[in-house]
Amino acid sequence: MKIIMLGAPGAGKGTQAKQIAGKYQIPHISTGDIFRANIKEGTELGMKAKTFMDQGALVPDELTVALVVDRIQKDDCKNGFVLDGFPRTIPQAEVLDKTLAEMGEKMDYAIDVDVPDENIVNRMGGRRACVNCGATYHIVNIPTKVEGICDKCNSETILRDDDKPETVQKRLSVYHEQTQPLIDYYKSQGILKTVDGTRPMDDVFAAIVEILGA
Ligand code: AP5
Ligand code: MG
Repeated sequence: MKIIMLGAPGAGKGTQAKQIAGKYQIPHISTGDIFRANIKEGTELGMKAKTFMDQGALVPDELTVALVVDRIQKDDCKNGFVLDGFPRTIPQAEVLDKTLAEMGEKMDYAIDVDVPDENIVNRMGGRRACVNCGATYHIVNIPTKVEGICDKCNSETILRDDDKPETVQKRLSVYHEQTQPLIDYYKSQGILKTVDGTRPMDDVFAAIVEILGA
């Protein structure tokens, strides 16, 4: 099963993608997580990506596309994968389709986690991410058991650099300009499914499972 998670920044793509990956035993591929891991390790890719991410801008396609094309051809992707945060532009989607076509494959579902802008700013301000394992929480909706400490690995949880309110606004406008057109792109391919992302996390997941099948 090959799935794309669409949705605004903070819509819950990562939250749902992790659960999908667990239930259907397929890899969760998040370009944002890959960039953040590279930033943490201080790689050249990480340094380049950070300048764009901190401004709320997209990392250029040259740095992004090859990474995903390479990743989806690995052995663990044979039974499918869930893409989170990719594609984010029409050119990225076109390369993805072309790569899969060359492998004799195609995407099965593009799931749009729909959340209006008003809800987003509040969610992002409350998000905390573990500096070590990347687990995400929300100070009100999904709090850690001990404030500021990851439930899974006991490391510190922090506000992401790009979750400051002014950067969130910029990410939202980039989303509307460059990523939202993908909704029509996948609608015209007949694989678009929309779920109401304002509902509680478990309800959103239940709606997704209904689409994908148990
Ligand atoms: P990326 O890491 O992909 O960030 P994003 O798209 O902005 O999305 P987020 O990770 O912020 O949100 P999410 O939808 O995953 O929400 P989450 O589940 O965490 O990208 C970061 C940057 O990298 C980009 O800005 C860009 O610069 C670069 N980049 C990445 N991919 C790229 C590409 N393909 N091309 C170019 N550049 C690229 O949830 C958010 C919060 O809400 C959490 O606190 C969560 O606990 C809470 N929450 C989740 N679901 C619910 C719910 N149902 N109810 C209440 N709270 C909820
Ligand atoms: Mg995410």
